[in-house]
Amino acid sequence: MSENSITITDNRSGRSATAPIEHGVFPSAMVRELDKGLFMYDPAFLSTASCASSITDLDGANGILRYRGYPIEQLAEQSTFLEVAYLLIHGELPDKAEHEQWVHDITFHTYIHENIGSFMRGFNHDAHPMGMMVSVMAALSTFYPEAKDIDDTQNRLIQITRVIAKIPTIAAFTYRHSVGLPREYPVNHLDYTANFLRMMWAVADPNHEPDPVLAKALDVLLILHADHEQNCSTTTMRTVGSAQADPFIAVAAATCGLYGPLHGGANEQVINMLHEIGSIDEVPAYVERVKRGEVLLQGFGHRVYKNFDPRATIIKKTADEVFAVTGTNPLLDIALKLEEVALKDSYFIDRKLYPNVDFYSGLIYEAMGFPMDFFTVLFAIGRAPGWLAHWVELINDPEQKIYRPRQAYIGTEARDYVDIDAR
Ligand code: CMC
Repeated sequence: MSENSITITDNRSGRSATAPIEHGVFPSAMVRELDKGLFMYDPAFLSTASCASSITDLDGANGILRYRGYPIEQLAEQSTFLEVAYLLIHGELPDKAEHEQWVHDITFHTYIHENIGSFMRGFNHDAHPMGMMVSVMAALSTFYPEAKDIDDTQNRLIQITRVIAKIPTIAAFTYRHSVGLPREYPVNHLDYTANFLRMMWAVADPNHEPDPVLAKALDVLLILHADHEQNCSTTTMRTVGSAQADPFIAVAAATCGLYGPLHGGANEQVINMLHEIGSIDEVPAYVERVKRGEVLLQGFGHRVYKNFDPRATIIKKTADEVFAVTGTNPLLDIALKLEEVALKDSYFIDRKLYPNVDFYSGLIYEAMGFPMDFFTVLFAIGRAPGWLAHWVELINDPEQKIYRPRQAYIGTEARDYVDIDAR
């Protein structure tokens, strides 16, 4: 028997099944070799690999994050968000001609149908931007019925281009709606992030050009958020995609997953926490409350990274660049003090609790002027290429079928219906 294998014995029958362990997983189908009616119980899929993927390599123990083999540090430093999007979707970095074509195609698909504008006018002024984003993304599928042909590779690429191109436009339109400003349309001479920032902030100035340092910082943040393997929203993308829904519908569903505060909302919680702490002098008392288990230190800890979050290191540098332009923020001083105190404290050291990507991202977004309920929308823009890369991988994977987990039924045994008068 190979060392790289696992054997499971069903003690009811005495039968055993053996399967190889490869890439840290074994095929759970071996369990069904023992008994066709036997399933593994795994709430929240904590022990389940739902697919084989070659997109993102995440090694939590060693703080490693790589897209298609490239370290996140190198991509954040040397690449651009659109190039990273190409890499995620196509598997390789583009050559010059491919890059030019890709940037051109994204740039020329940024407009959205005017009827979407009428559709958006139906939202209340205080509608949450993520609610608007989900609805508009789903609505786009009605404008592109051909997107349902998911087996045509060329057609798939057109829809992918549309999603990545239009998502910043939709995002900016949700903001303009919430503050009652007319929608500002994309312009082709600006790059992806500068164009988005212009659509957000331009008022009565057709020549408005965002600060290049802020545009670059946002580009880096989008790269850091572009993929994180089988998280909740990506799993939703794959689940809905496995039913062969079109990509607009699957991205809308993935956006719903991201909308949940446990997934996309942690950086908002960091800002709330910093406001609650209020001043540097209150930091030690807050840390004591954390240690007594009364509150969480928001932006610390991670389910997968148990050493450090490589994204947090990059983001801290980006934060310095942004604050050099926007001026410092009293919340930043509290955050820095909090980090300093926590990193020296045995409570956090022993539990391997370090700042995660969200500890500084909210501060950066706030300094750039984004309202707090918009933070998750920025996450969605960044994550869209990752979702789409997983969708393509799913469609091309011959082992994948419609997602259909099983359950352990623990309800009442069979019983007879009782007439309402007799209950
Ligand atoms: N503050 C204080 N104590 C904490 C924290 C925290 N932020 N995180 C974990 N702990 C403690 C926890 O109470 C437990 O202590 P004990 O062993 O005494 O019971 C120990 O550390 C281990 O925690 P855990 O619950 O097993 O860790 P987890 O892997 O289940 O949770 C987490 C990970 C991210 C949900 C959690 O660290 C947390 O709630 N952090 C704050 C929220 C946050 O920043 N979320 C953003 C995560 S990054 C998002 C992304 O990657 O997209």
